[in-house]
Amino acid sequence: MASDPVPTNLHATSPADSAPPRARREPAPDAPTLGSMNGNPAGMGFWELLREDFATHGNDPLSQGFWALAVCRFGNWRMDKPKVLRAPMTVTYHLAQKAVEVVCGVKLSYTVKVGRRVHLWHFGGMVLGAREIGDDVQIRQNTTMGVKRRGDPDWKKPIIGSGVDIGTGAVIVGPIEIGDQAQIGANSVVMEDVPAGGLAVGVPARVRIRKA
Ligand SMILES: CC(C)(COP(=O)(O)OP(=O)(O)OC[C@H]1O[C@@H](n2cnc3c(N)ncnc32)[C@H](O)[C@@H]1OP(=O)(O)O)[C@@H](O)C(=O)NCCC(=O)NCCS
Repeated sequence: MASDPVPTNLHATSPADSAPPRARREPAPDAPTLGSMNGNPAGMGFWELLREDFATHGNDPLSQGFWALAVCRFGNWRMDKPKVLRAPMTVTYHLAQKAVEVVCGVKLSYTVKVGRRVHLWHFGGMVLGAREIGDDVQIRQNTTMGVKRRGDPDWKKPIIGSGVDIGTGAVIVGPIEIGDQAQIGANSVVMEDVPAGGLAVGVPARVRIRKA
């Protein structure tokens, strides 16, 4: 049976609500730029965060996903250190990030604001250039996130809500928002907002209703 489409506009609350959705709002000129500060989740120390990421990845010291996250956390942690300490940490960060790209096949810059308990399943072909990734997000191999067109500014990257489950091979591009607890089908190309709890599948991805 064919599924009925469900509304994909997350933000149409009332006609008076004319503010563009968060993903399509250009940051104010005086707003801190991505990567100019420690973007690790607030209220947790670096080691506590690493312990949680390690547990999320099954306490497996060889988990590529854990290593990619650990380097991302380190890249953020160094940002609130005094400059004299930060300089050697910056060199270490860039070398470690390149090693993660080459060895694990995961590109995750510290400029991406990553929430807690994010799980990178398996490895390889992951280019995770989102603006934000929420808590408890599941990301699988060959996932791509980033700008839609070459030359687009960095802020035109997707915002992934909490609890989102992303199938292998998904491509999520542009200044869009994936709502909390949404599911993205394997090999889907998502270029529009997905509402909270929505299921988006296909190329281009459309929001569907699950079969009973
Ligand atoms: C997205 C997903 C979770 C949906 O599962 P579900 O909730 O059981 O959804 P359904 O099977 O009811 O599918 C709903 C509709 O979407 C379609 N659909 C589901 N996944 C799709 C996909 N990846 N691409 C295109 N269409 C898809 C179904 O054919 C169905 O369409 P229909 O109503 O026209 O028949 C699942 O299909 C999926 O892609 N999981 C990814 C798993 C993965 O990456 N595993 C890798 C492990 S290493």
